[in-house]
Amino acid sequence: MSARQAVTASRSLDVARIRADFPILSRRVHGKRLVFLDSAASAQKPQAVIDTERHFYEAEYANVHRGVYWLSQRATDAYEAAREKVRGLLNARETREIVFVRGATEAINLVAQSYGRTFLSAGDEVLITHMEHHANIVPWQMLRDEKGIVLKVAPIDDAGELDLDAFARLIGPRTKLIAVTHVANALGTVLPVEAVTRLAKMYGIPVLIDGCQAVPHQAVDVQALDCDFYVFSGHKLYGPTGIGVLYGKAALLAAMPPWQGGGDMIRAVTFEKTEYNELPWKFEAGTPHFAGAVGLGAAIAYVQSIGYDAIATHESELLAYAIRELSKINSLRIIGQPRRRSGVVSFDLGGVHPHDIGTILDHDGICVRAGHHCAQPTMDRFGVAATVRASFAIYNDRDDVDALVAGLSTVREVFRL
Ligand code: ALA
Repeated sequence: MSARQAVTASRSLDVARIRADFPILSRRVHGKRLVFLDSAASAQKPQAVIDTERHFYEAEYANVHRGVYWLSQRATDAYEAAREKVRGLLNARETREIVFVRGATEAINLVAQSYGRTFLSAGDEVLITHMEHHANIVPWQMLRDEKGIVLKVAPIDDAGELDLDAFARLIGPRTKLIAVTHVANALGTVLPVEAVTRLAKMYGIPVLIDGCQAVPHQAVDVQALDCDFYVFSGHKLYGPTGIGVLYGKAALLAAMPPWQGGGDMIRAVTFEKTEYNELPWKFEAGTPHFAGAVGLGAAIAYVQSIGYDAIATHESELLAYAIRELSKINSLRIIGQPRRRSGVVSFDLGGVHPHDIGTILDHDGICVRAGHHCAQPTMDRFGVAATVRASFAIYNDRDDVDALVAGLSTVREVFRL
């Protein structure tokens, strides 16, 4: 048993060891220890991912699916092995249900443009929630403008919870797709996606889940969830940028037309007609970001070597500590108090502009996100234009929270709060 497996077995996480796996965490910013609390925007990369990428470019690189030569075969094997790793991560039935895309945004656009354009007509409804990322709002608005579909929005309460009764009432005979986030990126709310899919199945409505903020923190089983589409971005899961995943049930993906045309997504082309490739390559036109996929495979292996039980235990303890400490600060208002929260805490501090807070914290080497978090409707719901958001990952510890709290007391001094 390796040292890491031993740590996993004890269900506790040796954060010092984990931190040592992330080279960037040892650098200093403005002469201070780097306190990285912006992993919900993009997570840092462990050495294993950096080494895998580097090795791939140094020793195994050639275009995939195109060469008869050994090197191309090796690259193809590495790419398809990464697909198998994603399949395992999500517990999908088959690798042909795993489509590599640039990120969750592209995955949702793919579904909107392929599934939406083909199977939705004027008057049909897509049901989302009030706490979606723009990536799960705008593609449906674009479809609305093009096809005349109707976008329905399920309300959330003051705690930042989905109103499940109102959600159920919004389901009607014209509801043709339900698209919800698994974890809200601005609030950290863990949505009851199991209940959502159960409801949807009663009416035979396909469900898309945006898993960007979920997969770094918890195990996901698409078969148990019985969702039809599940999307996530690799860079939030300690993988490279520019690579993401669309999981889709094989029958649905098979019925959907390709959304981009080009090389690799075809079986045969003449000027008269094109025969498309089989799944999943039908949706992967052009040279894919296979080096990114290989890096994502390494990130998945890294996360799995630690284990989601240990990750969840560590992160929920840390989040509880952060909320406890932040709640002690006068004039700090945490936005949203969901019963189940993951990875994120958003707050307002005495009405000070979040950019000012972010800038002051940066002087202490503390990285937080300040702004609307690509979730402007969520901000509107809570009557703020923006918030400060601290987000947590496997490499964060109580020292990071203490540094944030100390940084916020500097903000309070500067603004005399
Ligand atoms: N979607 C990313 C975030 O929540 C960028 O910050």
